[in-house]
Amino acid sequence: MSVMEWTPKMRVGLAELDDDHKELVRIINQLGSDYKDEDRRRAVRQSLVALRRYAEFHFAREEQVLMACAYTQLEGHQGEHRDFVQRIQELTRQFDSGPDGMAAIVNEELMDFLRDWLTHHIMIVDMAYRETIENNPAAKDAAKNFQGSQVWWSG
Ligand SMILES: [Fe+2]
Repeated sequence: MSVMEWTPKMRVGLAELDDDHKELVRIINQLGSDYKDEDRRRAVRQSLVALRRYAEFHFAREEQVLMACAYTQLEGHQGEHRDFVQRIQELTRQFDSGPDGMAAIVNEELMDFLRDWLTHHIMIVDMAYRETIENNPAAKDAAKNFQGSQVWWSG
């Protein structure tokens, strides 16, 4: 059973950003299907890293789009992005160095947090910019021209 699903209600007004959200959902579901099996520790760690990297990539792209549209609530939005990335980084550190087993870090509670955080972020925080970016040529251009490879591969 998957942790969460992307639904059309989550459309934020730009296909690239919707696709990013679908990818984040996919990674969370991957984590959710692996974490109960101690033998899949390696895969779980890879998903944690993928989640952090893809979140950074996507947040950077989203912020670029919002900047191009002179979105007025960008600062608070960026703060949410930053907190999320830090949380995942911290989790990965605990995962690597903690004396506890995998289940102490990656468990149902974490899955609930990831599902609730992403759902709330998309449905409330992201949805607030929908009107600003939908059918906005500046948003389309920014998404198309976004050079994300540096973010994606930066460690
Ligand atoms: Fe966002």
